[in-house]
Amino acid sequence: MTDRLEQLVEIAQALVAPGKGILAIDESGGTIKKRFDSVKIESTEANRLDYRSMMLATPGLGEHISGAILFDETIRQKMADGTSLVQVMEQGGILPGIKVDRGAKALAGFDGEKVTEGLDGLRERLAEYAELGAKFAKWRAVITIGDDIPSRACIDANAHALARYAALCQEAGIVPIVEPEVLMDGDHDLDTSFDVTEATLKALFSQLYEQNVMLEGTILKASMVISGSDAGDRAGAEEVAEATVDCLLNAVPAATAGVVFLSGGQEDVEATAHLDAMNKMGDMPWPLSFSYGRALQAECLATWASDPKGNREKAQHILLHRARMNGLAALGEWSEEEEKE
Ligand code: 13P
Repeated sequence: MTDRLEQLVEIAQALVAPGKGILAIDESGGTIKKRFDSVKIESTEANRLDYRSMMLATPGLGEHISGAILFDETIRQKMADGTSLVQVMEQGGILPGIKVDRGAKALAGFDGEKVTEGLDGLRERLAEYAELGAKFAKWRAVITIGDDIPSRACIDANAHALARYAALCQEAGIVPIVEPEVLMDGDHDLDTSFDVTEATLKALFSQLYEQNVMLEGTILKASMVISGSDAGDRAGAEEVAEATVDCLLNAVPAATAGVVFLSGGQEDVEATAHLDAMNKMGDMPWPLSFSYGRALQAECLATWASDPKGNREKAQHILLHRARMNGLAALGEWSEEEEKE
């Protein structure tokens, strides 16, 4: 193996080291505004820096968090004393990652479906991010379940873009996280979620193979197989865990370095319980861990927002607790009792 490939494997394995997962704080300008609006904080550059640096500087966070995914603005930000956020992460033992897609846009000719953009100029952007310290990257595709959708065209267009992105990342020495998110929105049942997730993952791994992407240096960020958020009779944790693991076993090659989940609108503890239930099922071909955004941040954000100066340590404590709980879930060692401690 060349040095570059060896380095990719090493980074990928570090991201899914036992008991560790990823903190997703890569909300785009629009999404972070929505999150800040919900807690009545103005989305200014200074507030975004204050909030995100507070999280990254949490003492001990690196024991449970292997890496954090940043947005373009964040990877360039510095604190008042001149320390960059990337340096804060390095001091805390947290690998810097970067969201490089340019968002999911309407897919022409297919009502209600999306394709993720951002391939043009990506080689040059990745080279710059590598200079800025990025060790891994993320690209999120969105698959929507609804009447007669997703279409084959939508799944294939997104799988193709994900594979092209992944190949460019590996060329730049950056580990790609490939994220084909099947949205939870809707009233679909568990079986529908299973079928759509399986078809999406099979298309993705076929494209990764076609584009010569090395799976040992690739992380899959998957959505769980879960009932739609408006479904009447939603499946419980055991069912979600079994269906998700079955689906992954059907579609994800064993060579893949690891699988991390997004939370996608699940409640904090629900996301932890689901991950824990999967890891309690026994040995898997790949580590199963987390890359949560909302399910790690929700309570931390609300606490910080109610008094950004006075509640800084309290908010850090809450983030550390959720990170620790999810770290335990990644080992299948979480319990309700741990949660209460
Ligand atoms: P959520 O866990 O809030 O779904 O965010 C994870 C993420 O990075 C989605 O791209």
